[in-house]
Amino acid sequence: MNQMVIRGVSSQTFVAANIKRTEDFYGRVLGLPVVKRTVHHHDARLPIVTFGFQLFQGEPQRGETITYIEWNPIFYMMPDRGFVEQAATRDGVANPRVGDPKGRWGAGTNHHLALHVPNRDGLLKWKRRLSDHGVHVTGPYNRHYFHAIYLRDPDGAIIEIATTEPGFGHDETVLGSGFRRQPKENLIGGRDELQVAAETWPQPLPLVTADFALRGFHHITSISSDAERTENFFVEKVGLRLIKKTDYLDEKGGTHFYYACDEELSPGSVLTFFGLPGYKSGRLGTGLSHHFALEVENEAALADEHARFKKIGIEVSSVQDTVYARQFLFRDPDGHICALSTPNRFSVDEDASHLGQKLCLPEQLEGERREIERHIAYRPAPVPVLP
Ligand SMILES: [Fe+2]
Repeated sequence: MNQMVIRGVSSQTFVAANIKRTEDFYGRVLGLPVVKRTVHHHDARLPIVTFGFQLFQGEPQRGETITYIEWNPIFYMMPDRGFVEQAATRDGVANPRVGDPKGRWGAGTNHHLALHVPNRDGLLKWKRRLSDHGVHVTGPYNRHYFHAIYLRDPDGAIIEIATTEPGFGHDETVLGSGFRRQPKENLIGGRDELQVAAETWPQPLPLVTADFALRGFHHITSISSDAERTENFFVEKVGLRLIKKTDYLDEKGGTHFYYACDEELSPGSVLTFFGLPGYKSGRLGTGLSHHFALEVENEAALADEHARFKKIGIEVSSVQDTVYARQFLFRDPDGHICALSTPNRFSVDEDASHLGQKLCLPEQLEGERREIERHIAYRPAPVPVLP
């Protein structure tokens, strides 16, 4: 066990059908700044945009980011194995398979990304603002350890907004010590859905003000078909700490296990899994996350973990240089892609105070800038290779 090596969840990477539409949603509606525009380190034909969070006075700097890769062609599936190694990514982009590009939820995919606001008024303000922008919102629900609302990004990925309070410690003295049953009024079938749906903020909110601006990650949630197997993997092998075993509030018979990456249980350090026994496997595509990244302090820690994972039998990718971080990929027992990464350094190729304002390309691609910019602006669907 080496609980303190992994410091938290640092990023989640989603697949979008149209990156400009995603940018408009995050920038104009959610109020998050772009911190990098680039192309995928495996294949320059895949545009990437990364969003960060504003800094607020008196709060510690948070480095979490949300990244979108565009998988644009509407008639082509993403490669089944995902973008794990460069050769497979290039082959998948050059020889796309005809089919539905939409991701399908299931075991081995993400379920949602939860962002964080200080309090419940913030949730109601988001509900009002999003509804006024034509975005459907459900909640606010009492999740026993926080309150939360839910929305979807333009491709259908679920985004949650959650509060810090009351936290994980109010129903057991030793976190993760046993299964905590949830009160009936929090569970599907037991809660007053009409009252939940009716509650909102009374005034419109044309601007995102500091009191309800999104602060960073609260937690990320994925789907497991075998909660015990997932627990064994993340606790015994990866080295996280189990902090809560409880009911999945939205499906009878499901479980919800929470893991933390640090002792403080700070927002952003929490990773959770819905346990849905026998749930069908999902498929990568638009509206789902490609992978999430757990962060280690530096390259030495990353190399140590790469060696340790291999030694204990976890299949790992090579250590890759994404220009902004070094990382390697692995899969959880349901096949979900996870990354271990060094912290992102987005100021290596543009000024820290002007992040995200230009398309950044690795040096070796500068000669192809014009072609890449044209490709991003006017991307035709790739042509399938005929048999
Ligand atoms: Fe959640």
